[in-house]
Amino acid sequence: MKTLFETVTLGNLKLKNRFVRSGTLLIGDADNGIISSRLHHTHQALAEGGVGLIITGMISVMEQGSANFSMVRADLPEFIFELSKTTDIVHRYGCKIIAQLCHCGLKSHSIHQIPYGPNAIHDGRGILREEMRLVRKSFANAARKCKAAGVDGVQIHSAHGYLISEFLSPYFNYRKDEYGGSLQNRSRFLLEIYEEMRNCVGDDFPIWVKINSTDLTTPGLTLEESIWICQELEHRKVDAVEISGGISVSPESQAALPVHSVFEEGYFSDNALQIANCVRIPVISVGGYRTRSVMERVLNAGNVEAISICRPLIRNPSFLKTLL
Ligand SMILES: Cc1cc2nc3c(=O)[nH]c(=O)nc-3n(C[C@H](O)[C@H](O)[C@H](O)COP(=O)(O)O)c2cc1C
Repeated sequence: MKTLFETVTLGNLKLKNRFVRSGTLLIGDADNGIISSRLHHTHQALAEGGVGLIITGMISVMEQGSANFSMVRADLPEFIFELSKTTDIVHRYGCKIIAQLCHCGLKSHSIHQIPYGPNAIHDGRGILREEMRLVRKSFANAARKCKAAGVDGVQIHSAHGYLISEFLSPYFNYRKDEYGGSLQNRSRFLLEIYEEMRNCVGDDFPIWVKINSTDLTTPGLTLEESIWICQELEHRKVDAVEISGGISVSPESQAALPVHSVFEEGYFSDNALQIANCVRIPVISVGGYRTRSVMERVLNAGNVEAISICRPLIRNPSFLKTLL
């Protein structure tokens, strides 16, 4: 019988409970890409509130991939120093921290550059081969810097319709080369990015992946496809997967769906449980958890090892104490 408030070991990461703060980018987290004192305060409040692990809001690996000025950028010189300050604050409370690395792809907003994705679509253009090489290198460099800053691991954000998710999704990706078409081809960019990061940080440093179990739109990534990708990630020694969904192209395809009642809680939990049945690496479930009974029901319905939460912790960083 699993309980929320017991210790758990995910890969080589020991957490004091099964609560994870999921990646959450907030306005004011950064000033022009540099971690702000506000972000330090947010993290301190969350750690004080008792979460076992904080996954940071998405951090852009390069200028081109940034969503806005409030988004931390790993390519700026201040990054390691500021992230190590955040890390020290969090660690004082026995809380672990994972840095989430992202490229926003077609959702990037830079005054200097036109956003790019797998192909030209909406207001964006298709990414060039040379730019793909740069993206891979930037993810690896960012992971190296995170390790130097002392965080407990990194997470590749490959969900929610950002660049890597755009490659995975037939909604955005209609390339005709070896990065488009078949599932194997659409997954290639993610797997290459992961391999480059792994080569850079070594085998012992945790690399997690946040991935959609469904894009919630057609065409879109399906659960069966997501299972296959998670198995490929497992073969390559990814340490854990966090299972989400949605590519935010309509109200129905949002990652953060409305939760009006207990019946709408844990809206990706069935998908997470199915994926957890098909892999041996730890699976974390995110999406609409609000009550302890639902969280513990999902934990005990199969191999999901931890529950990840965003919105309740924005309202109240001590949300977990309300569940005791
Ligand atoms: C304000 C806000 C910011 C978010 N920022 C991120 C982010 O930086 N990275 C990420 O992976 N997901 C982000 N998400 C999605 C959440 O991590 C989570 O997947 C989603 O909100 C569902 O969980 P919840 O019902 O507990 O809020 C964000 C959601 C919200 C509401």
